[in-house]
Amino acid sequence: MSMFPVYPVFDVEPISAEGAWVMDTNGQQYLDFYGGHAVISIGHRHPHYIMRMKDQMDRISFYSNSVPIAIQHELDKKLGQMCCYLDFQLFLCNSGAEAIENAFKVASSVNGRSKILTFNKAFHGRTSLAVAATDNPKLVFPVNEGAEIIRCELGNHEDVAEHLATKEVCCVIIEGIQGVGGIVESSDEFLRFLRKECTNTGTHLILDEVQSGFGRTGYFFAHQYSGIRPDVITMAKGMGNGFPVGGILIAPEIEAFPGMLGTTYGGNHLACAASLAVLEVLESENLMQHAQEMGAYLIERLSTHMAIKEIRGKGLMIGLEFSEHVAEMRKKLLYEQFIFTGSSSNPNTIRLLPPLNITQAQIDYFLDGLKQVIQHK
Ligand SMILES: Cc1ncc(COP(=O)(O)O)c(C=O)c1O
Repeated sequence: MSMFPVYPVFDVEPISAEGAWVMDTNGQQYLDFYGGHAVISIGHRHPHYIMRMKDQMDRISFYSNSVPIAIQHELDKKLGQMCCYLDFQLFLCNSGAEAIENAFKVASSVNGRSKILTFNKAFHGRTSLAVAATDNPKLVFPVNEGAEIIRCELGNHEDVAEHLATKEVCCVIIEGIQGVGGIVESSDEFLRFLRKECTNTGTHLILDEVQSGFGRTGYFFAHQYSGIRPDVITMAKGMGNGFPVGGILIAPEIEAFPGMLGTTYGGNHLACAASLAVLEVLESENLMQHAQEMGAYLIERLSTHMAIKEIRGKGLMIGLEFSEHVAEMRKKLLYEQFIFTGSSSNPNTIRLLPPLNITQAQIDYFLDGLKQVIQHK
């Protein structure tokens, strides 16, 4: 047998890791300025994370949702307190795309509608409705077609208002900050406008915080900069620091009924332990404030780079747009400067998503590497 070759891969295989560093098969160290795809929130092999996971494995790793699982309630309490949504309800699943599918089901079960309003350049995952809502025709196959998707330009009030006024739209889905699209922020004013229009028309507002959540932008969720409260919030990636876990937060007025949602693995003991470990480290190491401070430092230092056309983002979710394609630059950063960075659907934009406990010295290491690559183009 062989692997189904769907991923373009770099010629570097990390086999061990610590904090923001990964080590390859030749003992070469690399700075992980990509957080392993926005997943590594508290750093690789954090001691508290290892302790929590080992301790859980020594007791029980899995039992199905047909029995009480106390650690799920430990997680809903801690998460509610840390993200300031104490009155919301938590449903646990295993990935970002799964969180999105469940968010759509919740919205549709309440208002009985089927149309989904989404935005240009959005990315919501690769499963059925999630990929239909994603703005990338290359990822959509005939089985994914048939979903009733309305796509608007980010920030276009009139277009959104016109569609919502029909009262046929089930939900609006928007990323806290567009990630795959190239780190594109919505204005606070646009998010507040969406909240108001959704409330007025019985439409659900879903905030996709799969990439921008769990402290990455310096607030627990990126949309919290705007002060709005969505109806459903999706989470994954940094939530488990590498252990597959996703979830949705559901507004208190939405009532569950038995069988409404379900999953075999979602909310298993190990996944909850991983997520609790992330929350405990975010809190004890004050990582949301650290992300704000380190993000501000990084942006300030980057702003002196003449070659960068635009810097976008918040906290440690940063996009650097250049006047040319960045594929070659990213290769040089990796193979010559030993730094992992992220791509985006915008070929001119590099995505920076380091672990939230990245140090100033590590940021300087990245800045030196970037300078070398820009100077020796
Ligand atoms: C904003 C957003 N939503 C959803 C997803 C899908 O998450 P997953 O790959 O865990 O299914 C992603 C993945 O990149 C994402 O960035």
